[in-house]
Amino acid sequence: MILSIESSCDDSAIAITEIATNKLLFHKKISQEIEHSVYGGVVPELAARLHAEALPKILQECEPYFKDLKAVAVTSTPGLAVTLVEGVTMAKAIAISLDIPLIGVNHLIGHIYSLFIEKESLFPMTVLLVSGGHTQVMEVKSLSEIETVAKSMDDSFGESFDKVAKMMGLGYPGGPLIEKLAKDGDRLKHNFTVPLHQSPLIAFSYSGLKNAVRLAVLEEEKQENPDFRDIAASFEHIATKHLTMKLKKYFKSVRPSTFAIVGGASANLYLRGQIEELLKPHKADLLLSELKYCSDNAAMIGRVAVDMYKQNIFTSLESLVSSPRSLL
Ligand code: KG4
Ligand code: ZN
Repeated sequence: MILSIESSCDDSAIAITEIATNKLLFHKKISQEIEHSVYGGVVPELAARLHAEALPKILQECEPYFKDLKAVAVTSTPGLAVTLVEGVTMAKAIAISLDIPLIGVNHLIGHIYSLFIEKESLFPMTVLLVSGGHTQVMEVKSLSEIETVAKSMDDSFGESFDKVAKMMGLGYPGGPLIEKLAKDGDRLKHNFTVPLHQSPLIAFSYSGLKNAVRLAVLEEEKQENPDFRDIAASFEHIATKHLTMKLKKYFKSVRPSTFAIVGGASANLYLRGQIEELLKPHKADLLLSELKYCSDNAAMIGRVAVDMYKQNIFTSLESLVSSPRSLL
């Protein structure tokens, strides 16, 4: 069995995964959404303090598994420096006290492996990762052959939902709140410009769209009873269209055969539907994670760790350091 820890942002989570079968024997996650909600985003120092309270509580529940642990895994990159270190320190303490090896896991690979929880991993595929920290397209040939072919030049897809929700005073995380509000809105009411639509670059950018939405929100606030439904719907439509337009361009040179959407924002049903449409002419398979494993969790870290363990990829105590920036 492998014990895995996730603390890269605002979710404290621990999983126990059986190596031979990929079975998830235990998984618990304590989210900090309510605590950060009043600030409209994650406050790193507060997040670190909450991890320091939550992780030992969850770990205590894992005690019955301690005698069977063959390794301890932890998200070591990317994420918030002050929160990653909470998980990394705990993992090192476990490795020393139980005399078992350490496995440092890349959080982005974790999101890819959220597709394979309690399943066998299957490659190659093209992956769109949409989370709070990242928006990128990757060609994934195997656990260790991952090439990023497009990424965001500024804000990420999920982050733009968080910022728009903050402008509207909706709370955090913004993704599900905007998606709910957008359901009753007119997607075509606000004609926001699709980011980089004239650029040949296959890259993403959300800062311009965010500012256009800000102006629309300020305008609506002049009304006696501001109603943000149309703005939310138009924003979600254009934010998604930006992704599908760039992917369409990319598919002209690299035809997709298996395509996956992962990351917290892959829970967005409008995005899922639009990507499904985009893939139809290519007859490509669309892989999605179960909704409960789209956002940050330790089950996905455990699933990567199982494949790393089987391939003898371990990290020494000295070389396991948390690093906010990922090499991917
Ligand atoms: O993967 P994740 O849990 O954390 C990071 O690794 O960043 O993703 C969280 C992000 C947040 O920005 C959240 O607003 C966004 O995913 N998100 C969504 C939806 N659900 C979560 N964005 C759009 N639509 C959603 N339904
Ligand atoms: Zn994540």
